[in-house]
Amino acid sequence: MNRKFEDLNQIGDIFAKVGDIAQDYLNAGDDAPVICDDSSSFDPFAALPARGDGALAALDALKQEILPFLATSSGPRYLGFVTGGATPAAVAGDWIASTIDQNATGPQGSVASAVEQQVINWICDLGGLPRDRFDGALTTGATASNLLAVVTARQWCGEQVGIDVDGDGAMALPGFEVFSATPHASMIKDLSVSGVGRNNIVRVATDPGTEAMHVQDLADKLANSTSKAKMVIASAGTVNATDFDDLVAIADLCAAYGAWLHVDAAFGLFAALDHRRAHLLTGIDRADSITSDGHKWLNVPYDCGIFLTRQISILEKCFRAFAPYLTSDVPGNNYINRGVENSRRFRALPIWMAITAYGREGCADIVMRNCDQARDLAHWVVDHDDLILLRDPLLNVVMFCGRGNDDANRQLLARINATGKVFFTPTIYNDRFGFRAAFSNWRTRDQDLAIIKDAIHSVL
Ligand SMILES: Cc1ncc(COP(=O)(O)O)c(C=O)c1O
Repeated sequence: MNRKFEDLNQIGDIFAKVGDIAQDYLNAGDDAPVICDDSSSFDPFAALPARGDGALAALDALKQEILPFLATSSGPRYLGFVTGGATPAAVAGDWIASTIDQNATGPQGSVASAVEQQVINWICDLGGLPRDRFDGALTTGATASNLLAVVTARQWCGEQVGIDVDGDGAMALPGFEVFSATPHASMIKDLSVSGVGRNNIVRVATDPGTEAMHVQDLADKLANSTSKAKMVIASAGTVNATDFDDLVAIADLCAAYGAWLHVDAAFGLFAALDHRRAHLLTGIDRADSITSDGHKWLNVPYDCGIFLTRQISILEKCFRAFAPYLTSDVPGNNYINRGVENSRRFRALPIWMAITAYGREGCADIVMRNCDQARDLAHWVVDHDDLILLRDPLLNVVMFCGRGNDDANRQLLARINATGKVFFTPTIYNDRFGFRAAFSNWRTRDQDLAIIKDAIHSVL
């Protein structure tokens, strides 16, 4: 019999084995090395299997050939990048999303699109944003959301002066100007992809000693600009210092100069859940568009980005995909028209499961604990004779280094990561090489902090 139908007949065994493997993997998360230092036994050029032995045998091969060589990036001490964990309910939602394999395109014949709308509303609630002002879509990540922002902003700017970039192309609006102080690397990539150009960004100064936008410098640059098409990209949580721009002042300037205001809040949006930090986001409700991520601080599995805008019809204009076979008169949101992909994973389901299972309080608890952990590590660094804190943490990221020069610190970082107890990524802050510890995982507990400190101490 066909292997796939044989597998269907034993789907219970397959799922049980998947459950066992997943459970073993999660349970090992506390003790397994945080990163894999040698995956050379895996052969990327292995011969193509001609026939295959079915799912149970493939799971055995997975256990042998792949699982032992992964980073424990969903575990409690992987502090690289801004790597969110995945809560049990979110993982369950993700499994089901794969099992039911909806193509979450539009309202026709499925509730999936309504679930996405509900989830977008819930994200507005979590971020303290008025539901009636913002609408949007889930994307593959903040990079994709930032791309939607540039394209929508440019279209809106063009329309203010009677130019239709969507129809006539980027060259129809030659003077489109983008102002930003500390744009994330993904934003620069998006300027290239969208045809604006990586170099076409007006760099606004930062406030001394921070990554936050210098508002007076923005005011001066906007005042000197002769362009009629302007976009300001503000940050609500820069990736290093987690600085927040003064969104109220920037929104005032954008209103005065007719500029589109985009706020990159990839993880910073969820600071709204921490009453000690929610004020940092004051003014974000005046943005024209906002980027955030589910796979960071909301702790749903990769991949899941969030894009919100007040100008949903302009987004839909830029991203509409028309073909007779795609049309439908069923009422509801058609997400084909809200992003790059026509075919889309049911990304709303893991978020729906996570929020249904843990509610606002469960989401807030991750954010607040991670911020406390960052403070705790920062205090320890300050008290340690051999370490230097590069910046007081505002949110969940601690930047620090040893007392040696940059080369010595590069080697120290390699030694810390080689302990297998923790994983940091490097950074440069104020021209100095340092380590970034980004706390973004629900599983990180106080005992992990103790292990992290021991690991650093052991290689100093
Ligand atoms: C502020 C900010 N914007 C954008 C991104 C890109 O996010 P993603 O990897 O989800 O595309 C990141 C990632 O760390 C970020 O911190």
